[in-house]
Amino acid sequence: MKGWLREYRLFWQEVWRAYHTTGAILPSSRSLGRSLARYVGQADGPQWILEVGPGTGAVTRCILARMRPEDRLDLVELNERFAAGLRQRFEAEEPFRKFQTQVRIFHMPIQQASENQPYDLIISGLPLNNFPAAVVQEILDKMIRLLKPGGMLSFFEYIGIRKMKALIAGRADRQRLREIKAIFQELFRQSEKRRDWVWLNTPPAWVHHLQPQPNHLPTSPARG
Ligand SMILES: C[S@@+](CC[C@H](N)C(=O)[O-])C[C@H]1O[C@@H](n2cnc3c(N)ncnc32)[C@H](O)[C@@H]1O
Repeated sequence: MKGWLREYRLFWQEVWRAYHTTGAILPSSRSLGRSLARYVGQADGPQWILEVGPGTGAVTRCILARMRPEDRLDLVELNERFAAGLRQRFEAEEPFRKFQTQVRIFHMPIQQASENQPYDLIISGLPLNNFPAAVVQEILDKMIRLLKPGGMLSFFEYIGIRKMKALIAGRADRQRLREIKAIFQELFRQSEKRRDWVWLNTPPAWVHHLQPQPNHLPTSPARG
């Protein structure tokens, strides 16, 4: 079966099986992937890059396209089937195969990732707007702790998604969305460097590029 067909089939299976954590109806488009990978390869020295929630590897492919031989990429994926699919791609499918020695795949929630390896870049595909506000805060704190000072965090959300969800949400869910909005607004106020509008994606998306300050946020337990 062709690579893209296998990719879409696995993605749709997981949309039905695990919508809450998959949080999308299609893998990200090339345009969205390129925007998320904007800062890959943009440094004098080697970069340590972390992709959180790579799914079937749609964004991973765009990261690899910009990676240099001295760069390293870690992938942290919660869903066992996506992690297995990625391992298979890196073993057997070009262009993934030729990056095998530069990439590590971890099957775990990002909340449990080791904090021994600081990253220059973190690229997240997590559907944060699906999660409870406390989990959103916990994940953002974790990603910020994982960044080197001056490192960049890039993540996307669908344009207007919270407003649309709020139209059909019950009271508790509207409150949850308001809390997430407040978390994002504070984060953007302090550290958003750039926002891309990506129209060529289903649905269109904003990509937020943040450069958090070392003393930013942490509300969850500090590194130790
Ligand atoms: C919207 S999909 C994005 C997939 C891919 N990056 C793309 O853009 O096509 C979200 C991905 O995040 C993963 N995910 C959700 N919660 C996670 C967590 N706490 N830690 C790591 N991965 C998670 C899901 O399993 C899924 O692969």
